[in-house]
Amino acid sequence: MEEIKILGIESSCDETAAAVVVNGQRILSDIVNTQVPIHQQFGGVVPEIASRKHIENIAQVTSAALKAAGLSFTELDAIAVTNRPGLIGALLVGVSFAKALAYSLQKPLIAVNHLHGHIYANMLDHPEIEYPAVCLVVSGGHTSLLYMKDVTEYQLLGETIDDAAGEAFDKVARFMGLGYPGGPKVQKAAENGKAGALQLPRVYLNSGNYDFSFSGLKTATMNLWRKTEQTGTAHVADMALEFQTALVDVLVEKTLQAAAEYQVKTVLLAGGVAANTALRATMTERAKVRNIAVYFPSFHLCTDNAAMIAGVGYHHFLQGDFAGLDINAQSQAAF
Ligand code: KG4
Ligand code: ZN
Repeated sequence: MEEIKILGIESSCDETAAAVVVNGQRILSDIVNTQVPIHQQFGGVVPEIASRKHIENIAQVTSAALKAAGLSFTELDAIAVTNRPGLIGALLVGVSFAKALAYSLQKPLIAVNHLHGHIYANMLDHPEIEYPAVCLVVSGGHTSLLYMKDVTEYQLLGETIDDAAGEAFDKVARFMGLGYPGGPKVQKAAENGKAGALQLPRVYLNSGNYDFSFSGLKTATMNLWRKTEQTGTAHVADMALEFQTALVDVLVEKTLQAAAEYQVKTVLLAGGVAANTALRATMTERAKVRNIAVYFPSFHLCTDNAAMIAGVGYHHFLQGDFAGLDINAQSQAAF
């Protein structure tokens, strides 16, 4: 079988990443340079700083990916790059760099949607996945439920009407003084919480559609946190646990409702929040009794990386779906 080697480049937020993947499956290298320690000092991603760090690091990260793959640039078949959605200045760094490479090497350029990348991370870890499936994409910027006919064909069933799940984790962590990024901090704090010690609403659980809303949960969490602070009963672990459980309950129930309605036997989790252990465990447990298989990527592939971009790039390659050297970055994009 012919081997198609694709270089993936990712710079949509605060990770500069490059990877080489063969035939959309075999990862030869996967380099991620994270800026988290830099942005941590500011309590969140500072877009201007992110762009500047990407431009400093992108050439080294790419060289490292080629070196780890044991390949020279001329051996690549195509360059795939995230061009949407994300921070515009950050995206432009990856897009310009990928264009320059494609231009100088005379290799095809492929534009990849970052959200498709997150979904594809599942395929890298679990090539045995059977479709159709329902996929829950939960990241810092998105919360969407999709019906997936196969690995490249999707239909949007619902999405958040306000905050994304990761955004809610980040905001709650910030006002509770837990730091950035919020998801892992809340998860850690929740480990010592007492279940049922506090009560928060399961917002939008019975909305009658597959949309989500987390702004109300965030406000309810903030109000309850202030109230307990005033009465001297504030308890970080209990609060973190109830917030996480309330959010996970809604994500899991809606996903499984969709799986039942669309009669699928496979559920996929994707995006940074899919790294959450409570979400993984609750989804797996509640799906099992309904005879539904749940897949999620390994921790590393849940968060931003370029292997998932190279993976999606392979399918564009097979379809002859190449980008011109005039492609732009887009801050907003759906599926
Ligand atoms: O997918 P990602 O790396 O970047 C975006 O495309 O947004 O997702 C980042 C988000 C952040 O909001 C972060 O707090 C959240 O994923 N996250 C988590 C966990 N790890 C990362 N949320 C909950 N639990 C985690 N363990
Ligand atoms: Zn992402």
